[in-house]
Amino acid sequence: MDNEAGKNNKVPFEEDNYTHNIHKNNERQLDRRGFLKTMVGAAGVFAVSTLPWGGLAAKELMGFGKSSHPKKKIADVRALKVGEAVEFHYPGDHESALLIRLGDNQYKAYQNACTHLKCPVFWSREEDQLVCPCHHGFFDPQSGKPTAGPPRRALPEILLELDGGAIYATGVKRYET
Ligand code: FES
Repeated sequence: MDNEAGKNNKVPFEEDNYTHNIHKNNERQLDRRGFLKTMVGAAGVFAVSTLPWGGLAAKELMGFGKSSHPKKKIADVRALKVGEAVEFHYPGDHESALLIRLGDNQYKAYQNACTHLKCPVFWSREEDQLVCPCHHGFFDPQSGKPTAGPPRRALPEILLELDGGAIYATGVKRYET
């Protein structure tokens, strides 16, 4: 009959919370320990990210470092006169870029998607600038940094190598912070 009494829908004691379900001392201790562990872990991650190599790793992970890509021929030296530019694709077939011959032995190349809203930037020899026609953005051909207009970040620079009378792309230098 006790069983029957157990099923009589009466609550045997005040059921206003469920704290009787935990072994208070142990479980609360575990909670505190877990919390402390989490805090120590977070502090560790923060400390590591402030170390020089941690910063470098973070920089690389976030794409700010140099990324290596396969070497790709862009043009023959004799095909490009001083002051001229040639368009090419690097590192992917859909990533447009510009190689500019700024001097006898000076070449610069940048991905040419404007860092404002991605319009294609072109080389203006007359203005000695890379120009974005969409909102009149201008970039310095020596550094790729914006000089006027809405863009705030430099164009990603493409690393170059001269080899046997030809110019090759060898990697992309991502945004500097
Ligand atoms: S997209 Fe180049 S200035 Fe806006």
